[in-house]
Amino acid sequence: MLDGLFSTADELLAKQEHIFEMVKIIFTDHTGESRKVNANAGESVMEAAVQNGIPGIDADCGGACACATCHVYVDPQFQSLTGERSDMEESMLDFAESVRETSRLSCQITVSDTLDGLRVTTPEDQH
Ligand code: FES
Repeated sequence: MLDGLFSTADELLAKQEHIFEMVKIIFTDHTGESRKVNANAGESVMEAAVQNGIPGIDADCGGACACATCHVYVDPQFQSLTGERSDMEESMLDFAESVRETSRLSCQITVSDTLDGLRVTTPEDQH
């Protein structure tokens, strides 16, 4: 009856491992120092930063898109994969310093396996 869903137990195991695979994110600060962290799909890039003590990501509002202290620059290679800024995010970025075309609030970027290897940089004024 389950034929066709998974052809072998190995294939099922491989799919389960893929679901729980960690996503790597590389945070670089304004001095050029990089830190690689593991993130879980479904959490935000901000949450991954805070859990790993990344300097420059204060996240004062806890991810409510109400403080802009989680501002990052997304590597252009990943920009389309991180999605578009919402209107609320645009409004909050008006309060951030040194905003660029690649600016995002990291609490508004949801980690997924398509973002594996994501590179973001923290602005110089956030350290
Ligand atoms: S944590 Fe406050 S706007 Fe992202």
